[in-house]
Amino acid sequence: MSIALVILAAGKGTRMNSDLPKVLHPIAGAPLLHHAMRTGAALEPERTIVVAGHQADQVQAAALEFDHTAEVLMQTEQLGTGHAVDQAREALKGFKGDVVVLFGDTPFLKPETLERMIAARRHHDVVVLGFDIAQVQPRYGRLVMDGDRLAKIVEYKDATEEERQIRFTNSGLMACDATLLFDLIAKLSNNNASGEYYLTEVPELANARGAKVTAVKCDEAETLGVDSRKDLAGAEAIYQKNARTALLEDGVTLTAPDTVFLSFDTAIGRDATVEPNVVFGPGVTIESGATIRAFSHLEGCHVSRGTMVGPYARLRPGAELSEDVHIGNFVEIKNAQIGTGTKVNHLSYIGDATLGAGTNIGAGTITCNYDGVMKHHTHIGDNVFIGSNTMLVAPVSIGNEAMTGSGSVITKNVPDTALALSRAEQTNKPGVALKLFEMLKKKKQKLTSGAK
Ligand code: UD1
Repeated sequence: MSIALVILAAGKGTRMNSDLPKVLHPIAGAPLLHHAMRTGAALEPERTIVVAGHQADQVQAAALEFDHTAEVLMQTEQLGTGHAVDQAREALKGFKGDVVVLFGDTPFLKPETLERMIAARRHHDVVVLGFDIAQVQPRYGRLVMDGDRLAKIVEYKDATEEERQIRFTNSGLMACDATLLFDLIAKLSNNNASGEYYLTEVPELANARGAKVTAVKCDEAETLGVDSRKDLAGAEAIYQKNARTALLEDGVTLTAPDTVFLSFDTAIGRDATVEPNVVFGPGVTIESGATIRAFSHLEGCHVSRGTMVGPYARLRPGAELSEDVHIGNFVEIKNAQIGTGTKVNHLSYIGDATLGAGTNIGAGTITCNYDGVMKHHTHIGDNVFIGSNTMLVAPVSIGNEAMTGSGSVITKNVPDTALALSRAEQTNKPGVALKLFEMLKKKKQKLTSGAK
């Protein structure tokens, strides 16, 4: 069965109090919209349609970033969820299969739940996703069941007192045969308490036609939507808690799980250790047995088996660490490949560089990669010793088994096995320090007695 996802994302999200469209606010480093698209992608849809309205350009860019085949359609006026789905009518003309309606602001839905809806579709024409709500709340539509049959959905505003007590509640998701859905949507009216075209009227209209309509149940936690910054913070906390638990179950040691922050795509191998207060931005992979020490910040990087990072290290996009590498405190690595067993242990910046194996980078080493206009590359070979406080002015290449003297400013390539020294020669002046001290002490005395 072919599937077309229709993801509703036109709402303004007024309560977010933001210039950014609601669906672009991030959870675990990815916009809410991407979370919805990722779940939907598990159904391997033939078409993915996003209905945008407010700041549609930004929503379109985000949708295409996730899936360049996504189609973004405009809903210029937000006249209700039924009207939003209707925007896909032309695009889906002639489409034979199922339409699955998702909300762009509901990030926790599980792919298995969508699969259960699709399975239920085999024996029903319309399938709605519902959940039992723990506390009766005014915002959700109520599912009025007649045995297994979903008789109708009533919006809270339009419900009788008795209907408002129903705990089985509408998540907003629906799966329906495309032809039937657009036939029924054409018949929606906005004669209701909100004056909107409700998608939720579809089940009742389908029943009137003798179609088979049912509801599938999921946990309330899956249907959690985001309407405000408070909701967003709450959703982030839930996401983090779930992601940490998943890592612990996968055999990763988190010494203080509550202080580790993960991204939607953080991948950490079994028997890796993550110490307290570590932040993982998007695009990080950590192999088994690596250790990420406290207060480190990582994004867009790869850390291999046996490698040690931190404490207080920063790995930026393009940092590729081979096995048994040591990256120590106050070290920043960006767009650089570090060879096996190489050590950058203290206070260094390695950017736009390739470092070979078995090399030692002394404290305070800087790759001067930026000339104010362009970035340049530094190459350092195998078994090199870079003396402390070396400035490597890129583009520059240091050969295998070469050495630089501490404090050198290296502007020319260094051949294999050579020692490069580039610093002012030292002169010692016997007894001068003593004289200098005496002179300075007298000066100070004069100044302080004058001040009295
Ligand atoms: C909807 C359901 C309600 C359900 C609840 C679950 C309807 C009429 N009601 O109510 O039964 O319990 O979701 O959260 O469907 N949107 C558009 N264009 C519009 C209107 C909405 O794109 O014209 C999008 C919003 O951006 C949002 C989603 O549809 O992503 C839901 O809209 P919202 O107004 O939040 O629906 P609810 O009132 O919560």
